Amino acid sequence: MKTALVTGANRGIGLELTLQLLDSGYDVHATYRSSKGGLEEIQNSALNIHQMDVRNKEEISTVIKSISSLDLLINNAGIADGHWQSISEIDMEHALEVLNVNAVSPVLVTQQVLPILSNQSTIVMISSLMGSISDCRSGRSYAYRASKTALNMFSMAMKNELDGMGSSLLIIHPGWVKTDMGGPNAPLSTDESVRGIMQRITEQNMSMSGRYVQFDGTPVEW
Ligand SMILES: NC(=O)c1ccc[n+]([C@@H]2O[C@H](COP(=O)([O-])OP(=O)(O)OC[C@H]3O[C@@H](n4cnc5c(N)ncnc54)[C@H](OP(=O)(O)O)[C@@H]3O)[C@@H](O)[C@H]2O)c1
Repeated sequence: MKTALVTGANRGIGLELTLQLLDSGYDVHATYRSSKGGLEEIQNSALNIHQMDVRNKEEISTVIKSISSLDLLINNAGIADGHWQSISEIDMEHALEVLNVNAVSPVLVTQQVLPILSNQSTIVMISSLMGSISDCRSGRSYAYRASKTALNMFSMAMKNELDGMGSSLLIIHPGWVKTDMGGPNAPLSTDESVRGIMQRITEQNMSMSGRYVQFDGTPVEW
């Protein structure tokens, strides 16, 4: 049985990833920051629920110690920025927090899982189209955009070393999805988005390491 670790799994895309990974036969370690949320309703012996704030090294370490080998890491946890409308409104304290959660914390989690990664493992970074510099036409969403661009570069900067460990890297835009973050007008359900993400994970191999694609496999320009 393959083993997966999903961050931010109590709601939204992370919860749906947990459900579909369980359906696909994975042993899932699902983590939440403060409330178990939808994880509490899942009855499945292959589900292991852990409290883990992705900013907290000690909490990450405790979770990793309970897993012997990992085939799939999904760095999913993320936060939005302050919906600032102009440069002068950017709150730097919150901007740093967005960068910390969305860009630095996935690296912290990845660092900690290295010793337990299996050969032919996959590391998924839930990025965003908003991290694409070439797609940044409307501007704004300053910190969120910058955080996802930084996540992409952190990922690519780690790629060669991960290749050497037999671990392949998938950087993915889940689409615009109906969640607390995506809002009610988003065109995609979590089910549709995650079905696509699951297909991308299934087809992923070492020769695809470092690709930046949408949930449906369409390449995203950097
Ligand atoms: N929805 C979209 O349209 C869309 C589009 C592009 C990319 N994405 C990306 O997809 C991922 C999931 O987003 P979503 O739409 O499912 O958002 P969501 O419904 O707002 O869920 C975000 C998840 O991240 C968790 N989280 C936030 N900060 C955390 C921390 N410090 N430690 C641990 N967990 C933390 C939240 O936990 P709490 O419940 O404790 O807050 C929650 O489980 C994010 O990386 C987001 O940037 C989403």
